[in-house]
Amino acid sequence: MAVYNLKINGTRMEVDVDPSTPLLWVLRDHLKLVGTKYGCGIAQCGACTVHLGDTAMRSCSLPVSSVGNQEVTTIEGLSENGDHPVQKAWLEVDVPQCGYCQAGQIMSAAALLKSNPSPSDADIESAMNGNICRCGTYVRIKKAIKMAAEEQAS
Ligand code: FES
Ligand code: FES
Repeated sequence: MAVYNLKINGTRMEVDVDPSTPLLWVLRDHLKLVGTKYGCGIAQCGACTVHLGDTAMRSCSLPVSSVGNQEVTTIEGLSENGDHPVQKAWLEVDVPQCGYCQAGQIMSAAALLKSNPSPSDADIESAMNGNICRCGTYVRIKKAIKMAAEEQAS
């Protein structure tokens, strides 16, 4: 076991865990930040996506020991009042169906728009390629990302 002082959603949080513990389980089991979901556990579905700095990362495959001083942002910390442009567009377009994959989808979309404020269709497809939705909400996801990009630009 080892003690880690992590910066998560702007707050320092301390956990005492095995260094190999995936960040996902630190978030969900130790810090009760359960918005980040478990899907596959092998970095293949995107349900567990969080931001490490400004980069979208699969938290199921990221040992807590490799987080270091990088800031972690989860869906709970993306905005204070659920009013990030991506979250607003998601509501406007009514993207979710069952909802299970959606935190990961939103975190990937937000990271995309941070690095590329005006993505093309191909950019969106490439960035969102690893986020699987069993309910098939892909068309609405793309529409919402475009709407969020327009709002950010205005
Ligand atoms: S649970 Fe992490 S990518 Fe599927
Ligand atoms: S909304 Fe059901 S898995 Fe994506």
